[in-house]
Amino acid sequence: MPKIIIENLSITVDYNPAISLLNNFHILKIPINSRCGGRGNCGTCRFQVLEGRKFITPLDTMEKFRLTEDEIAQGWRLSCQSHALRDLRIIIPDPNEENTD
Ligand code: FES
Repeated sequence: MPKIIIENLSITVDYNPAISLLNNFHILKIPINSRCGGRGNCGTCRFQVLEGRKFITPLDTMEKFRLTEDEIAQGWRLSCQSHALRDLRIIIPDPNEENTD
């Protein structure tokens, strides 16, 4: 199974590549916001990829709408719209410091 290193939480977890990263985070009880329930509308399930961008599914329309060009360039993605196949190293923002734009 591929692994995700969540740098800011100092944890490494195995994840299921058959489901979205958001669903993996929920199953693994990793705190992350998901105000719209995974429909790609709220942008609160974002995470930043530090290593492994090429192993994540291409940006979809909802991500291009919810994320700025700068955020995309910095590796931000929406976890509800993302699937991955290999090991990743990421940052998940503190759910208490939610991005509400
Ligand atoms: S949960 Fe709302 S955009 Fe991902």
